[in-house]
Amino acid sequence: MTSTQHADLVIHGGRIVSPDSERQESIAIKDGRVLAIGAPDTMPAAHETLDAAGLHILPGAIDVHVHFRDPGYPQKEDFASGTAAAAFGGVTTVFDMPNTLPTIATPEALAAKHVIAKEKAYVDYGLYAVLGEPSLDHIDALVEGGIIGFKLYMGNTFGKVPSPTTGAMLEAFELVAPTGKRISLHAETNSIMERRETRLRESGRTDPLAHLAARPDVVAVEAVARAAILAEWTGARIHILHISSSAELRPLAEAKARGVDITGETCPHYLMLSSDDYERLRGVIRVNPPVREAVNQEKLWAALEDGTIDMIATDHAPHAIDEKTRADIWTVDCGFPGVETQMPLMLTAMSGRQGSIRDYVKWSAEKPAKTWGLYPRKGALDVGSDADIAIVDMNRPWTIDDALIQSRAKISPFHGMRASALPIHTLVRGRFVMKDRILQEDSRGWGGSVHSIQAMPPGEVRNGETTMAAITSHDPFANIEATS
Ligand code: NCD
Ligand code: ZN
Repeated sequence: MTSTQHADLVIHGGRIVSPDSERQESIAIKDGRVLAIGAPDTMPAAHETLDAAGLHILPGAIDVHVHFRDPGYPQKEDFASGTAAAAFGGVTTVFDMPNTLPTIATPEALAAKHVIAKEKAYVDYGLYAVLGEPSLDHIDALVEGGIIGFKLYMGNTFGKVPSPTTGAMLEAFELVAPTGKRISLHAETNSIMERRETRLRESGRTDPLAHLAARPDVVAVEAVARAAILAEWTGARIHILHISSSAELRPLAEAKARGVDITGETCPHYLMLSSDDYERLRGVIRVNPPVREAVNQEKLWAALEDGTIDMIATDHAPHAIDEKTRADIWTVDCGFPGVETQMPLMLTAMSGRQGSIRDYVKWSAEKPAKTWGLYPRKGALDVGSDADIAIVDMNRPWTIDDALIQSRAKISPFHGMRASALPIHTLVRGRFVMKDRILQEDSRGWGGSVHSIQAMPPGEVRNGETTMAAITSHDPFANIEATS
């Protein structure tokens, strides 16, 4: 206390939530960081104060899986509309996926995207580079160009990024392992689902459930298991995106038990929607991996609660209304927006489960920050942390209305759902980006890339003597000559 420094902002009266505690305390912010936390009378003088009585103060959510479509698909989203949606959802950092136009596979494409993001972003962000044949020659240049990690598509999805063969995947893992960067995987095996889709189309099926029939659990289970084996062999760190089935939990848990550096996320739609919703929602619910049978939901919740699944992300995948409402399911674009509704929906669902808001903070902020080397600058509200804050009314009943969301994609399977919690203010590094449910337009461009604060532990390389680089650069007789 008794700092002689003036704070820029002091927030009084709120309930500050961390994974270990909930405390009614004040929080002082200076130069974008948390300066002090404590009783109101210990706070320094401030240029501005905010009364948060009755509200909860959470570390802003870190959504490690969004598609903001910029550059390439402005009718779906751009970096301004996407990060505005994040701000309204209490999300203060996003990791944006590389399936834009062009795909982020080269340092030139990455540099161009950095310019776009810097100009438009309301919240902080990390940019992913794609990992596959087109980027294998650029791994170090992409890392130097400023990425949060790599994304590898084991299965085809929106943007038609070709999925690498297992051979190319092994080489890719070998190249990324020494960099320490984490590889996030769309873990669905392309050859299985492509074959099934072809057969389903030939049989004349165009109904929504045909999408699920093309991609049964085994599509994901086989991919998770294979990715874990390649990570174990090479030492690469991996993250399993959008876990949709309870069946995937076994290869995930087994890999963790073997010491593989593997993490996983699930998304609200896998916890809250099921195959029972396809008839009602038709193309709107089409997403990869598919929303599955209701029996999965409880097991996914339990896996979050026991730590097998590490975090919650959204796979915010916006598309225009006409792209989601075509009659033939095979022609409907996959995915829907979610960055803005994750926090309200999760907090609402957890109150029904008697889940703790502290657990939510762990899954939405702490674990993502730790997994990508941003903690405790991000993902925590401790003295010295970035003042990335979601101020939430935990007792505000409202109904999700697609017409009113910030995202350009005014169509989602969450339309009409009831929520009991609502972010009221969102701050990024001490600055309001959303205040009283109003976008702070002068904060456009305030967001910045978090790659520069990322501190991943050094990469660990296993079986280095077998890598493609090792076997093609060695003189096989070198050892024999030296010892004879
Ligand atoms: C995503 C998209 O539209 O970019 N779609 C989806 O169904 N999830 C791609 C992806 O994350 O696989
Ligand atoms: Zn995906």
